[in-house]
Amino acid sequence: MLTISTTPKALTTAPKGLTRVILTEGTTHRFVETTAGVTEFHYGVGKYEEVTVRRFRTILRSLVQAAKGHQIEQLAIELPQVQFPKLTEQSATWYYTTIAENLHLAHYEYTRYKTKKKKDEKKELKEVLLCGVTDAVAKAALSRGTTVASYMNAARDLANTPGNDLSPTDLGNETKKLLKLKNVTVQVLGERELRKLKMGALLAVGQGTKSETKLIIAEYWGAGKPSGKKVAADKRPIVLIGKGITFDSGGLNVKPTGSMHDMHLDMAGGAAVIGALGAIAALGLKKNVIALVPAAENAISDDSMRAGDIITAMNGTTIEILHTDAEGRLVLADALTYSERYEPRAIIDAATLTGASLVALGTYASAILTKDDSLRTLLTTLGEQSGDLTWPLPLWDEYKQHLKSTRADLANIDPTFARQHGCIEGGVFLSHFVPKDVPWAHLDIAPRMESVSADKLAKGATGEPVRLLVQFVENY
Ligand code: BES
Ligand code: MN
Ligand code: ZN
Repeated sequence: MLTISTTPKALTTAPKGLTRVILTEGTTHRFVETTAGVTEFHYGVGKYEEVTVRRFRTILRSLVQAAKGHQIEQLAIELPQVQFPKLTEQSATWYYTTIAENLHLAHYEYTRYKTKKKKDEKKELKEVLLCGVTDAVAKAALSRGTTVASYMNAARDLANTPGNDLSPTDLGNETKKLLKLKNVTVQVLGERELRKLKMGALLAVGQGTKSETKLIIAEYWGAGKPSGKKVAADKRPIVLIGKGITFDSGGLNVKPTGSMHDMHLDMAGGAAVIGALGAIAALGLKKNVIALVPAAENAISDDSMRAGDIITAMNGTTIEILHTDAEGRLVLADALTYSERYEPRAIIDAATLTGASLVALGTYASAILTKDDSLRTLLTTLGEQSGDLTWPLPLWDEYKQHLKSTRADLANIDPTFARQHGCIEGGVFLSHFVPKDVPWAHLDIAPRMESVSADKLAKGATGEPVRLLVQFVENY
């Protein structure tokens, strides 16, 4: 992990061995050796006055990428907030949290399966020294950003792990390892317990494989565990639910070549809620939060669920399976029903649910679907603040007619196989399983499952929306 250190001293006093970064208003990047024997990296960021919140994150990440490219081991940099007029509207906490988060996120690489180091990558970036930092608020924010980024990177590690090394059982074990934190308990239910709970939808998705289906339950009681029968209002937890499909072959409606190889990332939502709960607990937020991850592999065998099968979900709803590749909504359905026992204040789910969300939004934002105006406003605003962008799609009742089944209560996709409303259809399906009167938002994070070049991140999982969920829990 990258070390971010601070010094109250000016950049000019940084040790000579460190590469001193001088931000310039141009667009070029070049190295300068001064007569005093200091290496300076003149790094063009464009006009200071044009640096927005979004640009700032990209600048931080590009700088790390450039440092990696040039095999720089230690950087020294001065980043006074007043240098960027547009960023002075933001708090110092936001500013320094953003710095730490984005340096760490850009530094991350998934190297677990690389047996040889690349020849041209002998030196690695190890340290960034932030000069001119005196303030305790700034230091606390840097530490906060480091915590959030480390759990976001842990979520990326989980998501990037291939399906052959991360079964639902493995995901449960990794969750236990990652969440050894104060006030946190992790419980992993197996198939015997899931059958007792009548989680027919979750079990159906995982029935085609020897890998046991699991429900991972992580509880964080930062505001104190409720006692007695009725949960007191201030102790009611926020429930985060994440899709945990450790590999999605599509099932008998098998995915075509080109659409299947990335489907080890289909538990990115699960990884994100686990990461978010870890960050929230490590920060010691005075909130109660539950993370639920229904984990299964959508595999192909003669035990797999068939198209045309009718299954019964935990809440008694019968579901006609018209497409075995629409499995995410099935596992989430039972997790939503299960969440009722916590009497949640709000439920947020994060799931790589539909390819259609990418058709709607492209690759820069996750879709948010909710009927709750305050959740929508808060999650889109905090999306912009945190960098985990979200953008709304409707969840109107008009769409409900498209999931009518001939033989069961509900079909898992539009029986006409119409595709134009695919992302909304996923949200509408889930809405049938949300406990009554609980504010709920669905995040279809398929657009953000993998990084794109504009992200200036390593290829693979993005770790989103860990930052957003942490800020949401803090602010809701
Ligand atoms: N995991 C996929 C969705 C997905 C696709 C995520 C591409 C990221 C990138 C999901 O389980 C799925 O297969 N959805 C189907 C739904 C369809 C059958 C209604 C899809 O999007 O094609
Ligand atoms: Mn699928
Ligand atoms: Zn899937």
